[in-house]
Amino acid sequence: MCGIFGYIGHRNASKLLVKGLLRLEYRGYDSSGVVVKNGTLESFKDIGKISEMASSLPSLQGSIGIAHTRWATHGAVTRENAHPHLSNDGKVAIVHNGIIQNSEMLRKRLKKLGVSLNSETDSEIFCHFISMDLQEGKTPMEALRNVLSMVRGTWGLCVLFLEYDFVLCARNGSPLIVGRGKNEMFISSDPHAIREHTDQLVALEDGQIAKVDSRDVQVMQIDGRAVESSYLNLEEEWGESELGDYPHFMLKEIHEQAQSLQHCISGRLRHAEGTSVLGGLQIEPHNLAQLPHIRLIGCGTALHAAQIGQILIEQWARIPAVSHVASEFNANDPVINPDALHLAISQSGETADTLSAVKEIQRKGADVYGVVNVVGSTIARQCGKGVYIHSGPEQSVASTKAFTNMVGALALFSLQLGRSRHLSKTKGKSIAREMRKLPEKIRSYLENPGPIDEAVELVMQSKSVLFLGRGISSPVASEGALKLMEIAYIPCLAYPAGEMKHGPIALIEQDSPVVVIAPNDGVQDRTMNAIHECKARGAKIILIHEEGDPIAEIGDVSIPIPATIPMLTPLLSVLPTQLIAYQTALSLGHDVDRPRNLAKSVTVE
Ligand code: M6R
Repeated sequence: MCGIFGYIGHRNASKLLVKGLLRLEYRGYDSSGVVVKNGTLESFKDIGKISEMASSLPSLQGSIGIAHTRWATHGAVTRENAHPHLSNDGKVAIVHNGIIQNSEMLRKRLKKLGVSLNSETDSEIFCHFISMDLQEGKTPMEALRNVLSMVRGTWGLCVLFLEYDFVLCARNGSPLIVGRGKNEMFISSDPHAIREHTDQLVALEDGQIAKVDSRDVQVMQIDGRAVESSYLNLEEEWGESELGDYPHFMLKEIHEQAQSLQHCISGRLRHAEGTSVLGGLQIEPHNLAQLPHIRLIGCGTALHAAQIGQILIEQWARIPAVSHVASEFNANDPVINPDALHLAISQSGETADTLSAVKEIQRKGADVYGVVNVVGSTIARQCGKGVYIHSGPEQSVASTKAFTNMVGALALFSLQLGRSRHLSKTKGKSIAREMRKLPEKIRSYLENPGPIDEAVELVMQSKSVLFLGRGISSPVASEGALKLMEIAYIPCLAYPAGEMKHGPIALIEQDSPVVVIAPNDGVQDRTMNAIHECKARGAKIILIHEEGDPIAEIGDVSIPIPATIPMLTPLLSVLPTQLIAYQTALSLGHDVDRPRNLAKSVTVE
């Protein structure tokens, strides 16, 4: 979604701002803009691609500026609504991420005061109120505090002043970090944009404001109380984010899965004891014995990983577990048991729906552990404990390697839990052995992925695609459907295989493509029933099955994956679904990495 980048230093700001925006591009946007201080506040913005905006950007001098990528919420995708927004006297410029809920009322107040508004956005009010206060003699900090006391909603806000050599920032519900270079400072909503300049950063917390000049950042609470802020170290793995020889980030990230899973599990498996150790998820044995249940919360792909985690926890640790759609979690005033364990799962660590569920659980007295990819992200910090999944940067909007590592981390956790309870050492060792083999199996599958092109032929012109799976393959079916839908724009439906006859079967007609995930896992025979029911009505079956399994004969297109133990099959069966989605989107000529209307990190509820 919206992104912010700022620079205060000694180099040409506009070039760095454009570079920073390009690093934010993967998050999804519809317009972009920059403003640089150079005698006046020179601003340039446009709809469409950053590269197009940048190619018509006049040469702007100046070494201090702020920039933005917008993902429309209030007001259409127009140049006027793009950020930055400038006060009418040209002395204050702002960029804003988030939503101001009482903006209508504040816009009316400004109009009554005779201020002409230049956009339909909720964000523009900031620059006008600040500018009026400056005209009345308030300091920039006083003016910022004053406008923040008027607004309700969420903000990651940067303010640039014509008459001052610093940028003021504020954060409430929308991330903002400040990175320190050598006599230069960077501001961004995403560590990814800063990583190439520095690995030293300060992450603002909700309710904080900051003054950033070319040498340092001063952080304070909104009421002016000073805050002791220390620089975090961005982990090394956050660096490798270039496309290299790949045409798209999605394909690159699909192929990185063997290595990223290796990162996630290496050093955490204890083969001799048949267990694993996740430092951030160590729970005292006596608390474990009393755990009433575990709840796992996430959105989209993270939700599907949570659904798999639920099954793994119940199977291996025999603790009741349930997964929840984060965006629904708070809707019905959930009952929270403070003795229960809660896991918030998120790649970005910024998903507003998940964050809001975390806060609700904490408000009601329980702990939440984060299972997060982005180091130092809001959810990771809000939880204060948990594990990083170590996928490295994921830039394609369609999540692939983060799914694999979420499932990998949850498998490690389930094994650790199981071994602290009833799981035998022998069983634990065989699970650990299989987990260790997974990266190599992923690698070998991706080297020889089977008849993906034939599957693409079946789905690419179809009205809709049905995905079926049973047991632990049911969330894999959901994940495959989500992927194909989000990048190929084909309506997809995912159902537990046994549920198909209770409704979705009505959709099946001659040649309807049905993707079936059917590893040899003990429930396969009943998945077969669903396959026969589809075939009897003319459906074409794309079957994902284990190598050497005679079930292959039943598929119209059969895609073999390496065999493993049933509970780990999602880590292999998801791979062909990712490739089918990728190839289909490509064949249909879509922008694979930046599908329409979607954002990489969804920071609004
Ligand atoms: O960053 P998160 O894991 O919290 O994101 C959750 C969803 O927005 C995300 O998984 C989304 O569904 C992806 N585009 C799926 O490919």
